[in-house]
Amino acid sequence: MSRAQLVTASKHAEHCQRNWDRSQSMPREDVQALVDIATTMPSKQNEEYFQLVVSVNSQLNRLIYDLSIDPDNPATLHRNAQLDAHAVFVWFLHKPEQLNMTDKKNRAGFFDVFRLNAKTAIGISSGAVALSACHMGYRTGYNQCFKAYELRDLMIEWGITNLSDEKNTPELALGVGIPQADTPWNHVLDDEGNLRKIVDTESKNIRWDIIE
Ligand SMILES: Cc1cc2nc3c(=O)[nH]c(=O)nc-3n(C[C@H](O)[C@H](O)[C@H](O)COP(=O)(O)O)c2cc1C
Repeated sequence: MSRAQLVTASKHAEHCQRNWDRSQSMPREDVQALVDIATTMPSKQNEEYFQLVVSVNSQLNRLIYDLSIDPDNPATLHRNAQLDAHAVFVWFLHKPEQLNMTDKKNRAGFFDVFRLNAKTAIGISSGAVALSACHMGYRTGYNQCFKAYELRDLMIEWGITNLSDEKNTPELALGVGIPQADTPWNHVLDDEGNLRKIVDTESKNIRWDIIE
């Protein structure tokens, strides 16, 4: 793994992939490797701040895509096709009481803000998945716009039964898969391959300094 390859993977991960080549599939070993990465990256004091659900079921992923809207914002309709991917990773908050934690105390009983640490853990986990997946040749797209309770209920319906507490909210989702060839990442296609939407892209230029 060269430095240049890692930087290229990061540049791919920066963009939000919104179309997928459905004629190809992801090997299960690759999905499992990404699950292993997601669940071993560091969290504060190694607490289990989140629970991960990964769907490689295209029927379920389409349902997740359908829920990935803001009902108050019509522009989000058919926008978040990043979750119509080959594999969809969803990070749920893990209910603190299940771990003898409270919103303000960790397992050892010391002051710790659950939500902040949980969000940080999800960020670290998902970032590693995105970078690794792009390094493996896949593309990725994040999404935080979904009907959270309906998404949780959908997962329960599909067999993830321990998400029934209202604190088990989905916080972040990431689509991973094989992009449609010769198609810009921000083009959303319909099932016939026709252009449905072009999503505006965003760029950033984060200041950095190295102190010698
Ligand atoms: C934490 C997080 C949440 C995001 N949520 C959304 C989202 O809800 N909807 C969306 O369209 N893109 C979402 N994105 C994708 C970013 O907007 C995208 O990575 C960024 O705009 C750069 O990609 P672009 O070149 O495709 O614009 C999210 C990205 C991150 C990291």
